[in-house]
Amino acid sequence: MAKIDDKVNKEVEKAAKRFGDKFDEEMYRQTNPRVLEYLTQRNEVHERFSNALNNNDLGELRQIIVDAEIACPVSGTRDWTDVRQFNLMFSTEMGATSDGALKVYLRPETAQGIFVNYLNVQKTGRMRIPFGIAQIGKAFRNEIVARQFIFRMREFEQMELQFFVRPGEELEWFEEWKKIRMKWHQTLGFGAENYRFHDHEKLAHYANAATDIEYKMPFGFKEVEGIHSRTDFDLAQHEKFSGKKLQYFDPELNKSYIPYVVETSIGVDRMILSIMAASYCEEDLDNGESRVVMKFPPALAPVKAAILPLIRKGGLPEKAREIMNQLKFNFSCQYDEKDSIGKRYRRQDAIGTPYCITIDHQTLEDNTVTIRERDTMEQKRVSLNSVEQEISEKTKMEYLLKQLI
Ligand code: GAP
Repeated sequence: MAKIDDKVNKEVEKAAKRFGDKFDEEMYRQTNPRVLEYLTQRNEVHERFSNALNNNDLGELRQIIVDAEIACPVSGTRDWTDVRQFNLMFSTEMGATSDGALKVYLRPETAQGIFVNYLNVQKTGRMRIPFGIAQIGKAFRNEIVARQFIFRMREFEQMELQFFVRPGEELEWFEEWKKIRMKWHQTLGFGAENYRFHDHEKLAHYANAATDIEYKMPFGFKEVEGIHSRTDFDLAQHEKFSGKKLQYFDPELNKSYIPYVVETSIGVDRMILSIMAASYCEEDLDNGESRVVMKFPPALAPVKAAILPLIRKGGLPEKAREIMNQLKFNFSCQYDEKDSIGKRYRRQDAIGTPYCITIDHQTLEDNTVTIRERDTMEQKRVSLNSVEQEISEKTKMEYLLKQLI
């Protein structure tokens, strides 16, 4: 399907060059006979593929691979085995002795802990629907191919939100959460064009709508977050197998029901990878040198400020330590007095520190320092009293969060 998409895009590109300013892309896509033929082919494959997935028809999946003449990208052969279902979870044993041990599974998502606790949270927190419970924690999957650095791992960290809503309102909330979450990603400032939704063709057995937010990694558009409308499937299953009622009493409707759930789920590691990939820059400077700089959004930078005495004598290190001691309670800071100031700036650029504070002889005279901003490399002289305010605005999480309102 991707190959056919590429062919369509190439046709469109060629036509755009041919027609110049007059080119109407949408019209071209809807009317050009060759493009239409490609789209028909694509739709046929797509329909066959989703039917096979939805019906769990592994034989048909193999046939699609054969019919589409898909070759192994490494060896080039088309000598495929049957399509098989892999183990998705890790199992282990719980119990004092091996003969009485119970087979248990490491969780593949953090969500289920939230489901079994949701009534406790609702009652003790006196929550009314709609409300959400968010959690961060480890998840484990028996990934067949764990690779691409921290993109796909067998042990990873998930952040999940389960949002409980009235039955029938879930698809509206699903759309709402799509907007909220996309806004969060775009607020990071890496360019709206680098994110897109990918709606699922095959819905998991528990979902009635699902989409991924994809980021353009150096190795292509890849999922960083999943948003799913999980219906009442999970709570109903827990109720069925535990024998414990998981109904919520809705005082406005004066009735009890199992809430529907909209989930957003993001891998910490995968988000960090997208941020590292987006932030990494190599820049040529005016003086002929070059620098590597991590342009992290300041609120996400691991070190917010570096405290740098210009030289290692004349009372400058002592003054710098004093400033470090003031700032360290509110900001993660690094003190560095080794090497030339230029080298120290480069070191901080490479780890993405948004601000470098330099202490020089003038500091001892008039209590001012220079603050250098990472991306512009501009420096300004400010009074020591205003340093905290200068660096706090953009490095506080509040700066990002307020843009979401
Ligand atoms: N509770 C729903 C759920 O787990 P998912 O789409 O399978 O949905 C959510 O996973 C997110 O977890 C993904 O978008 C991704 O960021 C992260 N994730 C999933 N598998 C991963 C893996 N093997 N390594 C790293 N992150 C992973």
